[in-house]
Amino acid sequence: MLEYIKELTHKLNQHNYNYYVLDNPTISDYEFDKMLEELLLLEKEFPQFVQPDSPTQRVGGEVTKKFATVAHMFPMLSLGNTYSIEEITEFDKRVQNALLQKAVYVCELKYDGVAISLVYEKGRLLRAVTRGDGIQGDDVTQNVKTIKSIPLKLFGDYPDLLEVRGEILLPHSAFKKLNADREYIGEQPFANPRNAASGSLKLLDSAEVAKRGLDCRFYLALGENLPFKTHYDSFTKLKEWGFKIPEIMQKCNSIEEIKMFVSQWDVEREQLPFDIDGVVIKVNDIAQQQQLGATAKNPRWAIACKFKAKRVATQLLSIDFQVGRTGVVTPVANLKPVLLAGTAVKRASLHNNDIIQQLDIHENDWLYVEKGGEIIPKIVGVEVSKRTENALSIAFITHCPSCNTLLIKKNDEAATYCPNEWGCPPQVKGKLEHFISRKALNIDSLGEGKIEMLFDNGLVKSSADFYKLKPEMLIGLEKRFLGEDGTDRIISFREKTVENMLAGIEQSKEISFERVLFALGIRYVGETTAKKLARYFKTIDALAIATKEELKAVDDVGEQVAESIVQFFNAVENLENVVKLREAGVQLELKEENQQSLSNILKGKTIVISGVFSISRDVMKQKIELHGGKNVSSISSNTDFVVAGENMGSEKRKKAEKLEIPVLSESEFEELIEKRN
Ligand code: IVH
Repeated sequence: MLEYIKELTHKLNQHNYNYYVLDNPTISDYEFDKMLEELLLLEKEFPQFVQPDSPTQRVGGEVTKKFATVAHMFPMLSLGNTYSIEEITEFDKRVQNALLQKAVYVCELKYDGVAISLVYEKGRLLRAVTRGDGIQGDDVTQNVKTIKSIPLKLFGDYPDLLEVRGEILLPHSAFKKLNADREYIGEQPFANPRNAASGSLKLLDSAEVAKRGLDCRFYLALGENLPFKTHYDSFTKLKEWGFKIPEIMQKCNSIEEIKMFVSQWDVEREQLPFDIDGVVIKVNDIAQQQQLGATAKNPRWAIACKFKAKRVATQLLSIDFQVGRTGVVTPVANLKPVLLAGTAVKRASLHNNDIIQQLDIHENDWLYVEKGGEIIPKIVGVEVSKRTENALSIAFITHCPSCNTLLIKKNDEAATYCPNEWGCPPQVKGKLEHFISRKALNIDSLGEGKIEMLFDNGLVKSSADFYKLKPEMLIGLEKRFLGEDGTDRIISFREKTVENMLAGIEQSKEISFERVLFALGIRYVGETTAKKLARYFKTIDALAIATKEELKAVDDVGEQVAESIVQFFNAVENLENVVKLREAGVQLELKEENQQSLSNILKGKTIVISGVFSISRDVMKQKIELHGGKNVSSISSNTDFVVAGENMGSEKRKKAEKLEIPVLSESEFEELIEKRN
């Protein structure tokens, strides 16, 4: 069986490489999924045979409390950089003067992501470390393992010890999706894909990292007696071993060729599916690289030529203030349309009042709009000389543009809010739309237009009102509006429409508590957090009375999320809505079959696990929960016992000893749950 599992693991890794690195799959997604399913089943049955490079290990699950600091084998230098082509000529002169033979260069794209160093021992990924200060960085191995284009096990004639360096990046499509999801639950969106990639790598929950859609490119191999003599040839080997390498690179024999490459990619970068911020020029011959050596900070054999951000000036026409589902008011500038890096820009977010003040924007000002590596245009300054006389400075509105409530600022947040959570139409409608959305209660017989009608007619103000709707309240309702083509249109609720709507609402009572909890729209509680909270607290009543400290015992829940949950259940309006949802028959408890309890032997017990077990930590946690126990991450006087695997953390052991908390070995724990009947 071990051999078969190994073979299946190897095959799947090969297919993974074909798909993610070579972009050339040789089997269908369906066949791949079937094979993966088979491996998953076998691994469940024979957990002792799970291979460290198994593709099933990529889903993440390890939750780290803090990243260990690790020293780099070779310091991670940065590149000297310039914005001018003339300085590239200077660089070439310095290089050629120091060498006996003429240097040939390789030009590559300069990826705008997060630098990473991977170390492979006997072909297995040993660790992944961020650049940090160049001497030491953070060990982010668990998170990096979730990136499917990174090999866990190398192919072919790899050396015993190998370090590769490259960049972790977030493609535009994944960035847009991530930011849309964040804004949806009321979190600040990331400013650009680089920040998003870096934030993702530093997440403590690797299962969350797995969902972010990170990708990579590797551009440097380090080690002893590596089987190539030039940088260009190193890529052939890197690719053979399983790494995703830059798809765009060019050998250049002259400054002219380098200049052409730089100007070509300064324009064509707009078509790339990820951000780059320049071009890197490297001496091709590795012996020549060694002769040139490095200064304390930069290698002398490479230089980065950075692109200047593209900038245009255009006139401000007006500012819209938009109110979102969470009450945040966002100022958006309407601009005189202008062409910038291939796209027509006519609107740009000004984010918040602080930004308007910093830029000191006046009415009708000429604004500089910039598009750097980033995909979103940004307003970076004002051309004061073009300001019209007596132009007034832009004042942030004081009252909600929708419901006229006085706006507020919370603590030290930059955002301005409309506090009229239950009376401000865009907020109420936004909450209702969220409640019925696909990942929430999934009532697809309702939609934005219908919700608007129900709200305008005073029939639905909070989600529980959906369940009070009756055919006679709805049939015959009509709304006239102007269609996009300028013609007069009518939506009317006919019998069939109403029947479908009510059937959809009825069916939503089957939706699990996990999703209902997400549907409630608690700020910062996204799909994953809702799932974790539901599984931990099991009922809405238990969640509603939880203290901040109790909430923080759940993975993923920090101060901000805990505070938001407490506030949600402090509001009478929310409590009333929950009571009405319960009366309507909506699921507010985890169903028995979801709890899949095996026994109650650990009921009421709070357990901490530490170290490495024969099964994954996730399965260990599941076991505790299946037997009625509660797994928490840190030891306190409330802990009943600790289960210690190999290499239990010394801090944890000391703490357990100090608080006199029993420490069980893995086998003692197994014995305990065996005794369950
Ligand atoms: S080579 C010793 N090649 O730019 C030089 N770097 O300041 C090793 N970068 O930290 C770097 N694309 O994160 C190299 N094609 C590329 C690159 C690249 C992006 C980043 C890298 C480095 C920074 C230089």
